[in-house]
Amino acid sequence: MTDDTIAAGKNGRKVSQYVIRRLPKYYRFLDEIAAEGEQKISSFEMASRMKLTASQIRQDFNHFGGFGQQGYGYDVIQLRGEIGKIIGVKNQNRAVLIGAGNLGKAVAMHLGYVDSGVQLTGVFDINPDLQNIDLCGIKISLFTNENIAAFCKRERPTIALLCIPKEATQLVASTLISLGIKGFWNFSHYDISANFKDVFVEDVNLTDSLLTLAYNVNHNGDD
Ligand code: NAI
Repeated sequence: MTDDTIAAGKNGRKVSQYVIRRLPKYYRFLDEIAAEGEQKISSFEMASRMKLTASQIRQDFNHFGGFGQQGYGYDVIQLRGEIGKIIGVKNQNRAVLIGAGNLGKAVAMHLGYVDSGVQLTGVFDINPDLQNIDLCGIKISLFTNENIAAFCKRERPTIALLCIPKEATQLVASTLISLGIKGFWNFSHYDISANFKDVFVEDVNLTDSLLTLAYNVNHNGDD
């Protein structure tokens, strides 16, 4: 599914992926200011602190019914709760991590302390030496077709976190899709979206992010 795919908002209204991508940013911002004790915030203040425009924020929120009374500002806790509900942070989608190397370990640890709506229920690796080692309270299982199939049948995960090499990913993704996985948090450099159309993919690439930073530094933000 591509960047401009649309999803259903309130009353089945269409919401673009661009709006959906801003929801976690609103959620994180509200989380931070709630922790600082702020109770009310206007769309203008939110806009200036988040480097957006107030009208963009209001338009985004209108997709989901608005959330506030014009002129009174938003109740921070309530808005955070509403946006959290829309994202589904409390849904606790079950997830499985494939690849328990350097990156996989860091990703598993990260999941342990963020409010992401994703609950890690299993960790698999093809390396037998890692079998039964504890990672964040979960014993690493050997990745075989039989083991992963039995796990998916039992635990019904819908999300897979892929921290495996590019060459291994096509086969692993195809296996996981056949076992009910609907979404991939993809750290491998394999292009899952290009080859499997009916799943949601979030590609994460630290190098791309670093190269974007390098471009901006090298071009002095000229563009
Ligand atoms: P690593 O070598 O420490 O770990 C990879 C793990 O995947 C190993 O434990 C290996 O046994 C396992 N594995 C390989 N094939 C498998 C399969 N078919 N099924 C299950 N497990 C399998 O490597 P590291 O540093 O953890 O990186 C993992 C991958 O992520 C690399 O291919 C690397 O290119 C990529 N990477 C991506 C980054 C990003 O920003 N997207 C950043 C760093 C690495």
